[in-house]
Amino acid sequence: MTSGFIPTLRTGRAHPHPEPLSGATYSAVELMPGDRAVVILDQRKLPSAEKYEILNRPEQVAEAISEMMVRGAPAIGIAAAYGLVLAAATTSKDTGREFSDAMQKAADALRATRPTAVNLGWAIDRMMRLAAEITTVAGPERIARLAAEARSIHREDVAACKKIGELGAEKIRDGATILTHCNAGALATGGFGTALGLVRAAHAAGKKVRVIASETRPLLQGARLTAWELDRDGIPVEVVTDNMIASLFAAHAIDVAIVGADRIAKNGDVANKIGTYGVACLARLHDVPFYVAAPWSTVDLATPSGADIPIEARSEQEVSHIGDVRVMPDNVRARNPAFDVTPARLIDAIFTERGAAEPSSEATLAHLA
Ligand code: MRU
Repeated sequence: MTSGFIPTLRTGRAHPHPEPLSGATYSAVELMPGDRAVVILDQRKLPSAEKYEILNRPEQVAEAISEMMVRGAPAIGIAAAYGLVLAAATTSKDTGREFSDAMQKAADALRATRPTAVNLGWAIDRMMRLAAEITTVAGPERIARLAAEARSIHREDVAACKKIGELGAEKIRDGATILTHCNAGALATGGFGTALGLVRAAHAAGKKVRVIASETRPLLQGARLTAWELDRDGIPVEVVTDNMIASLFAAHAIDVAIVGADRIAKNGDVANKIGTYGVACLARLHDVPFYVAAPWSTVDLATPSGADIPIEARSEQEVSHIGDVRVMPDNVRARNPAFDVTPARLIDAIFTERGAAEPSSEATLAHLA
C-alpha cells in the first residue's frame, strides 16, 4: 500500500501522548496537547512494530483511515473528528465563509474514506453541527471548541465500551471459551473495546475466560490485533484460521460468539467484518449464543435493513497477495467485500451502553431508542 501523504515522524514503542484518553498504554488515535497534531498507531504494522505517526493535516487523517492505519468503526469516527480539528487548525486565519468551505472539504474527504461504518458519518455530522455554529468565532477559540467536542466523542466512546462490557459480561459464564472475529477491541475503539470489552470485563470480574480469535482474512485483524491486545492483557487467546471455525463448533469447543458491528440497521440486521455472517449461521446451527457488542453510535435508524447498508469493496490486491507475494494466477480476478450482513434473526442480543436489544429486532432497538 502506498502512503503518499504520511511522513514517518516518530517511531518506537513509547506513546507520544502524555495521557492517552484510551486509558491504556497504547491507543488507536489521540489528539495531542495543543490541538495541532493527531497521533495514530499504525495498525498495519502490528504486531511486529508498535509505531506511532504524527499527522498535522486532515487529508493525512483521511489517508490513514482509507489505508487502514486506523480501523474499526468507533476508532475511525474518533479519528475523523480529530481530523476536523486539524482542518480548523489549518484554517484558523480564515473568515467565516472560507472556514466553512474548508471544513466542508475536509468533512467530504473524511466521509468518503470508508462507506460501511456509520460511526464515521455520525462523528463528522456531530463536529460539523458545531463548526456551523462557530464560523464567526475567532480562529483559536474555534479550534479549542472543536477539540473539546472531538475529545468528548472519544471519552464517551470509552465510557460506552465500559458499560457495554459490564452489561454483556453478565452473560459470560466462568470458564467460557469465546469466539470472536476480526478485532473489536481497544484498537478498534476509543479504548477498552466492544466485543473485547465484554471479554475484559468478564476477565476483570474473575471469570476464567479464554478467547479463540479467527484470523480474519484478508487483513488478519484477528491474528494480528485481537491476539496482540489480549496477550498484552494476559487474557488467554488462541488463533485459528477462518476455515477451522465450523469444526470447532461441531466439536463443542465454543461456548459463545461475540463480535462488534460497523452498522446496525433499524430492523436489527448487523454489518460487520466479512465472515461474521458465517459465524452467526454456525452458532445458530450448533445452539451457541451469538452476541453483538456496539456503542449506540453504530445504530443507524435511518437505514431500514441490512440490504440498505453500503458494503465497502476494497482492493483486489488484499486478496490476491499475501504480503508482497501474489498467490493467484496473474489473469484471475479477486473479489474483496470488506463486510457482510448478519440478519437480526441470528443475533441473540446486541449489547449497547443503553442496554441490551435481546433478541435483535426493530422492536427491541426501538425500545432503547
Ligand atoms: O475493516 P475493519 O478492520 O475496520 O473492520 C472492523 C470490524 O469489522 C469491527 O468488528 C467493527 O468495526 C467493530 S469495532 C468495535
